[in-house]
Amino acid sequence: MGIVLCGGTIVTDTACYQADIRIQGEIIDAVGSQVTQAGDTVLTAEGCYIFPGGIDAHTHFDLPVGTMSTADDFASGTKAAILGGTTTVIDYATQFKGETLQQGLENWHQRADGKCYSDYGFHMAITDWNEQVSREIPWLGQEAGVASVKLYMAYKNVMQVDDSTLFQVLERSRDWGILTCVHCENGDIVDNLVRQFRRQGKTAPAYHHLSRPPRVEQEAVNRLTVLAEMADAPVLVVHLSCRESLETVAQAKARGVRVFAETCPQYLVLDDSVYQDTTFSCAKYVISPPLRAKENQEYLWNGLKTGILDTVATDHCSFNFHGQKEVGSEDFSKIPNGAPGVEHRLGLLYTYGVKAGKISLTQFVDKVATQPAKLFGLFPKKGTIAPGSDADLVIWDERRQVTISAASQAQKVDYSPYEGMKQQGQAVHVFLRGQQVVENGKTCIDTPQGQFLFRKPFR
Ligand code: URP
Ligand code: ZN
Ligand code: ZN
Repeated sequence: MGIVLCGGTIVTDTACYQADIRIQGEIIDAVGSQVTQAGDTVLTAEGCYIFPGGIDAHTHFDLPVGTMSTADDFASGTKAAILGGTTTVIDYATQFKGETLQQGLENWHQRADGKCYSDYGFHMAITDWNEQVSREIPWLGQEAGVASVKLYMAYKNVMQVDDSTLFQVLERSRDWGILTCVHCENGDIVDNLVRQFRRQGKTAPAYHHLSRPPRVEQEAVNRLTVLAEMADAPVLVVHLSCRESLETVAQAKARGVRVFAETCPQYLVLDDSVYQDTTFSCAKYVISPPLRAKENQEYLWNGLKTGILDTVATDHCSFNFHGQKEVGSEDFSKIPNGAPGVEHRLGLLYTYGVKAGKISLTQFVDKVATQPAKLFGLFPKKGTIAPGSDADLVIWDERRQVTISAASQAQKVDYSPYEGMKQQGQAVHVFLRGQQVVENGKTCIDTPQGQFLFRKPFR
């Protein structure tokens, strides 16, 4: 006995067409007309789109930062994810100083296993590179199912790596089918600018964005692409935020560097005018890289359209305004960096991208599901609607309107950077490997059903 979703319009990265979908167990069994078999349950999707389940390849759940941890853990974060139509997250497991990669990964499994409402995988953020860690790279990709690492070119004295480490990781990862994801900001220059502002008594949250101008990001993107070219290694620039970086990525792609790039909804729909707020409230937007001048948005949308930008992820990293962001009320450099968003990625991109005519429906699916699946070793199990793929499906009713607000969100954090913004359409029903997990816009499962995803090496 299967489930048939009938009457919907299926959208993949290449096509948009009317057909029925038959689900058998965890898998899509058939796509077409007359797929129903005796005993099947039939659900109507008339008037709705059916998207492959979204993949958010950049989250930070249950991340310890200093003496605190992010507001969302794996339970609340992945519950919010499925409500927004994201059925897979790839979170940044972190190797803290003094740890092996295996210890870092075990730590993240303990945080996540048994708690996830979506399927989940890990990238491995490396903060302490040495000979022993280098020897763990084959194990990471081949035995632990973690086909990507992350390096930070910022956060001096905490996570930042130097160029020598960056180059060595690129070479070693290249040899073992591992994609290197990089936070691109020149942390030394940020550190100088932060110290200058503090010396001048400029400690309000708005100085955060002035300490991280676009050139600081672009310089790091440029350095990364040149090093990746020298090492002939694949790299992914995470959370690309501005025109300057986009142009640098475009030039690198044009000369054959294997560079991929991700942007985030916050850079597409919010801008740096929020930092004109002279109250501490703008600490809600203390993220790195910071929000940019509005004119950058057109370039980013165009980058999605032309393929310079490959994916859209959220960089969900939530800290409560009260009690957590407030730690930096006397000094902006102490405000924990990050903002929530995992719940609203599809809604924002659909509303302000597809409905606004900036990207097509198929491009939308490509950026939120198909490309992340391909880049991170999950395709065609995830990221498409085809026989044999996991039945991760989102029935999207664009007749529904949602107003984003902290009061109604599932994310366990006390604000939303998108407060009051309208969202056209909603994930009314969501299936995770054939099981309905969202019904009529509400979760309909009592226990977490998410599985760890062992990802294939990068090719
Ligand atoms: O501000 C941000 N983005 N915080 C999360 C950590 C990171 O840099 O990705
Ligand atoms: Zn980052
Ligand atoms: Zn991040």
